[in-house]
Amino acid sequence: MCGIVGYIGSRQAAPIILDGLARLEYRGYDSAGMAIFDGEHIRMKKAVGRLKVLENLTHGGETMKGCMGIGHTRWATHGAPSDINSHPHLNTSETIAVVHNGIIENYIPLKKKLTDKGYTFASETDTEVLAHLLDYYYKGNPLEAITKVLHRVEGSYALGILFAEHPDEIYAVRKDSPLIVGSSDDGCFIASDVPAILKYTRTVYYVDNQEVVKLGKDSLQFFSVDQEEITKEPVTIDWDANAAEKAGYEHFMLKEIYEQPKAINDTISPRLQGDNVVIDELHMTDGELAAVKRLYIVACGSAYHVGVTGKYVIETLARIPVEVDVASEFRYRDPIMDENSMVIVISQSGETADTLAALRESRSRGAKVLGIVNVVGSSIAREADACLYTWAGPEIAVATTKAYSAQLAALYMLAIKLALANETIDSARAAGLIKDLRTLPDQIELLLGQKEKIQRFANRYVGAKDIFFIGRGIDYAISLEGSLKLKEISYVHSEAYAAGELKHGTISLIEDGTLVVAVSTQPKLYQKTISNIVEVKARGAFVMAVTNEENKAMEKASDYCVYLPETDPCFANSLAIIPLQLFGYYVAVGKGCDVDKPRNLAKSVTVE
Ligand code: M6R
Repeated sequence: MCGIVGYIGSRQAAPIILDGLARLEYRGYDSAGMAIFDGEHIRMKKAVGRLKVLENLTHGGETMKGCMGIGHTRWATHGAPSDINSHPHLNTSETIAVVHNGIIENYIPLKKKLTDKGYTFASETDTEVLAHLLDYYYKGNPLEAITKVLHRVEGSYALGILFAEHPDEIYAVRKDSPLIVGSSDDGCFIASDVPAILKYTRTVYYVDNQEVVKLGKDSLQFFSVDQEEITKEPVTIDWDANAAEKAGYEHFMLKEIYEQPKAINDTISPRLQGDNVVIDELHMTDGELAAVKRLYIVACGSAYHVGVTGKYVIETLARIPVEVDVASEFRYRDPIMDENSMVIVISQSGETADTLAALRESRSRGAKVLGIVNVVGSSIAREADACLYTWAGPEIAVATTKAYSAQLAALYMLAIKLALANETIDSARAAGLIKDLRTLPDQIELLLGQKEKIQRFANRYVGAKDIFFIGRGIDYAISLEGSLKLKEISYVHSEAYAAGELKHGTISLIEDGTLVVAVSTQPKLYQKTISNIVEVKARGAFVMAVTNEENKAMEKASDYCVYLPETDPCFANSLAIIPLQLFGYYVAVGKGCDVDKPRNLAKSVTVE
């Protein structure tokens, strides 16, 4: 969601903060602001719109002098995007500044109490409550004031705080919202994600829930909510800072689409050994795996779509019943589970609030939770009983592509492992599957070679009003993702339907020329999907088919065909999604949309 960067040290803070915020802008981009201590006062500048506006306003930070400060890019929750609602927020005497990521759930009663005590509020945000509450409890000792506030507020928060009376320290606080701190020879940093400070340091510390960090120019001290000092080990970040740069591509999304072969390769290579799948991170024997009688897959958005595919693949190969749930529903639906249940939570960021809550709910009910996570050290990675990392590298575009592909690959490996443990496939079948899995990266390269063809086709649909995606079984799961990719970045209305279900209502929306994308990768369902294509064509639809080379009948049945290389039907999603990602991307580019930062969205959804 929002991005936070803070700095204290020997250098000018504002340019460092702006630079860090630029690397976090994918997290939130409704507005931005900075508070810098100039030696006497806290100076603040805020601006609605993209970070560029704030950069221009401060001449790249040049007009805000001072060696300590905090900054923020916002994804609005409470209060519309506006200068006034942007962070930082100040107390009335402008001696305390706060930036916040998350939601203060009890801000209304707190605001009422503070108003009764004479405090006045300038903004509509929940965050401003924190600035006034800190003021209320502050009696000269920042740590004491902060911990008192933490005992009063409910919700999730990552905070950066400045006190004008303490010019040699800034504070960082965290509960259920990601936050790291880092140290270098030139000073110390706060950030909501590693890329923000990677240019300055590779030595970072992951702040845990309800911890407070006091940052000095050359010191970091960690405290519990009871003000007891805590010892913490640094983590050295070993990934390449360039991984979070565009490397000549027009958008991060296109770069990340092209990084999919590598993301899959990096995720499977360490775990495929000969004709076997070795997932040490599971910490489960084959006997323990065979004892799992029911699986739940819980996630949000595209990660949920991975789960829908996972259900088909695991049920086909391992014959274990799988329930797939959207995390925001699962957490409140009183799920039935016991010690023979295993819950798989899938998340790129590892910080999605609903997915994290579903993990906690499952653990409290006695289920073992496996996380499939991309961001190392994230909350889900740390709180799950076991974590299978996807090695997709940093994903910056809001629309996920390479993390999605790596998540699919992780689930395929898990499905094979479960199937072998349950003896529902033999070693020859496993060897065949593993061979196909290893071939996927090269096959994706081939499909990426069709970029121009897809681009030309996409250009014809830049003005489209509605686009439908249909498919059966795994093809329905692919359709869900194809449709989401298109609509989230191009703002073209789109729906995905189980192909046989369209005629129960939605088919009334098909008009002359409406584009229907029909996905057909499952040989046993070719004919069934063709029947559904006939139905929509009879109502005037133009049909683009995404199907296997062998499905010759599709040439006649559809108006335009994209062919996929041959793989096991269980893995078809990994190939079919490539033309659909490119299609969504080029429709959005053709419309002139901000592909990497679509309106109203944020990369990591850390609020419920
Ligand atoms: O970080 P997560 O994988 O938990 O995020 C889940 C969804 O918010 C995410 O997949 C979202 O749907 C993307 N914008 C899809 O491109």
